[in-house]
Amino acid sequence: MSRVVLVSNRVMDLRKAAQAGGVAVALADIVRTRSALWFGWSGETAPQETADAVSREGRIVTVPLTASDYEGYYLGYANSVLWPVFHNRLDLAQFEAGFFERYMAVNSRLAALLQPMLRPDDIVWVHDYHMIPFAMELRKRGVANPIGFYLHIPFPPWQTFMAIPEHQQLAHALSAYDLIGLQTKADVGNFVTYLENGVYGRIVPDGRIRLFDRLVSVASFPVGIDVEQFANAKRDAGLVQARQSVSRIIGIDRLDYTKGLPQKFKAFGKLLEKYPQYRRQVVLTQIAPPTREDVEAYASIRRQLESLAGSVNGRFGELDWVPIHYIRRSTPRRRLADIYRSSRICMVTPLRDGMNLVAKEYVAAQDPADPGVLILSQFAGAAEEMSEALIVNPYSIDGTADVIRVALEMDLTERQARHAALMAAVRKHDATAWAESFLAHLARGRSGEDPGSRPPRTIRRALQKLQQPTRAQTRMKALGQNRVDGRIMSR
Ligand code: G6P
Repeated sequence: MSRVVLVSNRVMDLRKAAQAGGVAVALADIVRTRSALWFGWSGETAPQETADAVSREGRIVTVPLTASDYEGYYLGYANSVLWPVFHNRLDLAQFEAGFFERYMAVNSRLAALLQPMLRPDDIVWVHDYHMIPFAMELRKRGVANPIGFYLHIPFPPWQTFMAIPEHQQLAHALSAYDLIGLQTKADVGNFVTYLENGVYGRIVPDGRIRLFDRLVSVASFPVGIDVEQFANAKRDAGLVQARQSVSRIIGIDRLDYTKGLPQKFKAFGKLLEKYPQYRRQVVLTQIAPPTREDVEAYASIRRQLESLAGSVNGRFGELDWVPIHYIRRSTPRRRLADIYRSSRICMVTPLRDGMNLVAKEYVAAQDPADPGVLILSQFAGAAEEMSEALIVNPYSIDGTADVIRVALEMDLTERQARHAALMAAVRKHDATAWAESFLAHLARGRSGEDPGSRPPRTIRRALQKLQQPTRAQTRMKALGQNRVDGRIMSR
């Protein structure tokens, strides 16, 4: 079996217990279980003179960034341009001069450092938006190995992507990959529509896409979890606040404006306002480890949340009951399963999210005989597979409050039935299935064989989905109404 060389900006410290982002957790499983090398940023900054010093610890090879790399590449282009745009937040994007050049320069430097370590039969798998130009930089240095790219975050609607001044350079960089994987069919639809409309990509008969002078496969590979790590969870009685009868709603999200945290706090406050019978009966525990704190949008979401938690707690709290537990720290991963199992409800309500593995972890940690209820945003990638969750629109504060009530009142039979269906979905697309299907597809595409029927079908389905009328359009049609220039006209 070929060695897999993983490349990602964030590399997990396998000895560290704290919770990391979804990408590092997903990749750690691959490194533990097969012949692999994992290359990325050490998480440290260093002066220019020592920035090329590579550290190697077992299968993990890391490199520092210089202070200006950290500013321009990590805080700048990756997290102030690509992250907000890919999450539909053009209003938060900072298109500053110099960011893109630093982004390209860091990718070039890291590719130059990895290239001498590559063996001829390695398969290279590059991860996430920080590293889009990585394959192009390797190709410039003569690397002919199969190289795949996986985007862990959503791909935005094509016109939103075109707002990035350098979108064509990014598309050109993507053409250096053999396989591009996305989380959902909707992402594949958005991406292929962009390639066709933005840079004249064409789908060829075998289903690949002719992009500039190369042929690239595109498909969805929904990322999953290691189910067994969560299956033996125990209820942690120490977690229950004040009285055993209090139901806990759990939320675990990085402190990010994409996660819909203010909306979640408001919806919980609305529940307590509309349905006073739940006061002193329920708590919301929100664990929110901070990241990217040097970016202003993150400092601002933090201030907003602190004020909202204070306002709900001040309005409804009692001497022996604090409605919102807001914890701005990470939690050791070994504790997560027990926390999930001790929570009656889990709220995963992002405004936009690539997949969201917390939704899957929560389901995997439940007791099948007495499972909790998952409330899931329609805008999380996970909603495509997990339709048996209570699906909400997080922008609707009232609607979400009502759904929390439904979750609190759901009877055992319904909880069991929904849990069984969700568990089947979580098992079907677990971490191993995700990695194996991507790597098998990448290896197959390069050996000159037909890449198989999956990409064309996936792409066709995704495009059909985009062309289908939305529920609102169908309803308007039934009502004999048409939308013209943004106004609703009666026919
Ligand atoms: C998301 C991204 C990852 C990133 C993680 C943590 O899950 O898709 O690529 O590593 O957030 O963010 P950070 O900026 O701390 O690496």
